[in-house]
Amino acid sequence: MVTTRILEILRTGQPDESATIQGWVRTKRELKDFTFVEVNDGSSMANLQVVLDPVLPDYADVLKQLNTGTSIAVSGILVASPAKGQRIELKAQTVEVYGEADPQTYPLQKKRHSFEFLREIGHLRSRTNTLGAVFRVRNACANAIHQFFQSRGFLWIHTPIITASDCEGAGEMFHVTSLNLTDVPLTEAKGVDYSQDFFGKPAYLTVSGQLEAEVMAMAFSNVYTFGPTFRAENSNTSRHLAEFWMVEPEMAFCDLQGDMDLAEEFLKYLFKSVLEQCPEDMEFFNQRIDNSVLATADNIINNQFERVTYTDAIALLEKTNKKFEYPVKWGLDLQSEHERYLAEELFKKPVIVTDYPVEIKAFYMRLSDDEKTVAAMDILAPKIGEIIGGSQREERLDVLENRIQKQGLNLADYWWYLDLRRYGTVPHAGFGLGFERLVQFMTGMGNIRDVIPFPRAPLSVDF
Ligand code: 4AD
Ligand code: MG
Repeated sequence: MVTTRILEILRTGQPDESATIQGWVRTKRELKDFTFVEVNDGSSMANLQVVLDPVLPDYADVLKQLNTGTSIAVSGILVASPAKGQRIELKAQTVEVYGEADPQTYPLQKKRHSFEFLREIGHLRSRTNTLGAVFRVRNACANAIHQFFQSRGFLWIHTPIITASDCEGAGEMFHVTSLNLTDVPLTEAKGVDYSQDFFGKPAYLTVSGQLEAEVMAMAFSNVYTFGPTFRAENSNTSRHLAEFWMVEPEMAFCDLQGDMDLAEEFLKYLFKSVLEQCPEDMEFFNQRIDNSVLATADNIINNQFERVTYTDAIALLEKTNKKFEYPVKWGLDLQSEHERYLAEELFKKPVIVTDYPVEIKAFYMRLSDDEKTVAAMDILAPKIGEIIGGSQREERLDVLENRIQKQGLNLADYWWYLDLRRYGTVPHAGFGLGFERLVQFMTGMGNIRDVIPFPRAPLSVDF
């Protein structure tokens, strides 16, 4: 059977052409002389309207089966649609039913469902308009990410998911073990005897591919990762996942300035590509989810991001009359409410905050001459807060060793990472973009669990 995707028919189908489509019934409208069936195959937000004439063989029987959710193939002739709402429709000649969906039990009937309810039926929710649009945008965005880096000569590298090192040094890692958890072997000191475990030592799911990306940047100059990362932080918020995808470019011969410039160019490129690839979906988000989606995209593409140092950001936060829940003081980390105030209310656009205090940032960030701050940068987005975190890396062996020890990490664990500073070290920089936070930002979706097909969060690992 030669079939055509519905998107193609809607865009370029012409009257009198014959066509066969396959998809799922969204709605059925029975009139006296005709029945209209809206069919969707996921290629677009819009459905194809199929017109059934009572003269069709087995008309009454087929009609009974065409309930919401039923999977069908329809062959027929395209006709110009006399009614408003669509340019073209399909006049059916044959209808084949693959599988029915019982209207008494199929949960996705024609009405608005809450996102909370849809999360409980994660295996079916992708068939709704909103989740459909989200996952098409997610796909377009992933594709644009590769295009951006590939067209600039960056090598896509695959960093490991299982690792022995804690990149962020924050201790938020999931253990990976094949030990029998009901009979864990113990050392003499009553600790877990990892020498008997699969890898002979503790292993974890990675929180970031950065350390390995740095290894590869020291051979290929410009590289990027795009893969799943894991954080065992018990954060039950609308912006945190336990498993999320991260994009991490790493550039040799690059400083903080170059890092920020690339990140800004990157975000502009992604918004532009998605608007081009998914105009209907983006229009839908603007109409139904958040009416600032298109204005935000326009703002990102056409305006420069704001850039302020952490020290200036703290001064701005101290100056405002706005009451915050968490204290604002030089040396304390910015909380989400502070980040959002800066991006959403004060500057009304993405803000790049640089030069954070050394105490609140990871060990690998380059120590500045003042010895109080590091060459770090976070990009804060309206409504989301931190969307990108990056830095120039510490390329000086002695300074790096010092930082690792000061943070209470074990120098020996990082021997290969330190070797990069022993052999042919260069200034280098990179950043990490939280892919789901980006999709959230683009679409205006309120909860990060609704922009990834199968969200993993505390107490949530179904489907
Ligand atoms: O700021 P983070 O922790 O930076 C790193 O992991 C660096 N190694 C990146 C690098 O320089 N190569 O995380 C980067 C981004 C954050 O800005 C945020 O967008 C996202 O990852 N992120 C999360 N997204 C969803 N759920 C979580 N629990 C997240 N934690 C971080
Ligand atoms: Mg961060």
